[in-house]
Amino acid sequence: MKTFLIGALISTLALTASTAIAAGDPEKGQQKATSCAACHGADGNSAAATFPSLAGQHEEYIVSQLKAFQEGVRDNPTMAPMAMGLSEQDMADIGAFYEQQTAKIGTTDDELATLGEQVYRGGVTLTSVPACIACHGASGKGNGPAGFPALAGQHADYTFAQLMAFKKGERVSDPNGMMRNAVKLMSEKEMKAVAQYIQGLYAE
Ligand code: HEC
Ligand code: HEC
Repeated sequence: MKTFLIGALISTLALTASTAIAAGDPEKGQQKATSCAACHGADGNSAAATFPSLAGQHEEYIVSQLKAFQEGVRDNPTMAPMAMGLSEQDMADIGAFYEQQTAKIGTTDDELATLGEQVYRGGVTLTSVPACIACHGASGKGNGPAGFPALAGQHADYTFAQLMAFKKGERVSDPNGMMRNAVKLMSEKEMKAVAQYIQGLYAE
């Protein structure tokens, strides 16, 4: 009886595995990402601040954002067409490739980074801005399974633009409005400062 049960369990598991997509394959992902390199860089470190760096980003987050662009939940006239032709397997492979790359860390404006560090680590009590550290981690590594993106080293101009987009309600891809709530009462100065701090933040 016991053997029968275990046998049934194994065949059920095998069935589930064959219907789900395979885990991302970084080597296949590298080939599939050649068309992305022009903007995001061959190793996922982009040269221009309008294009986010993807190096070291979590596979789960990359997949979720590509789906958001496909479904129009996240909108950008440059990026949205790039996501259109990708299958779920393509997204997982590409995500696995970028996750393996190492993010280059930028420099920060020291004066702004001091305020930025306060906001990042402690939030702003008066305006109920939560500490970013709670979800994105002390070193800006985020958490893949939880859907919290890595931020460390990201271009300050890109980070600032995303914070503004959440604040204005132009970006609505965040589950339960987590980011829209976080930045609701954040000042532009605080956003610029935290973006500077993040650009110089090391992920371990
Ligand atoms: C012509 C330039 C261009 C190309 C080519 C391009 N992207 Fe993008 N990508 C962008 C821009 C611009 C953004 C930022 C969009 C925004 O501001 O919302 C972006 C954002 C993204 C994001 C979200 C990153 C984040 O931190 O939230 C992902 C993931 C992404 N691109 C993946 C890809 C993949 C995969 C490819 C190739 C199949 C690709 N991109 C090709 C310009 C490009
Ligand atoms: C309660 C958890 C939580 C807190 C607190 C939080 N974030 Fe986020 N953050 C998220 C989630 C979830 C996402 C992904 C949203 C999505 O899927 O579009 C995100 C996305 C972002 C992005 C977009 C990243 C990209 O590559 O496009 C930035 C920038 C960001 N957060 C900065 C911050 C800053 C700065 C703070 C502190 C003021 C903060 N976050 C506080 C959960 C949080």
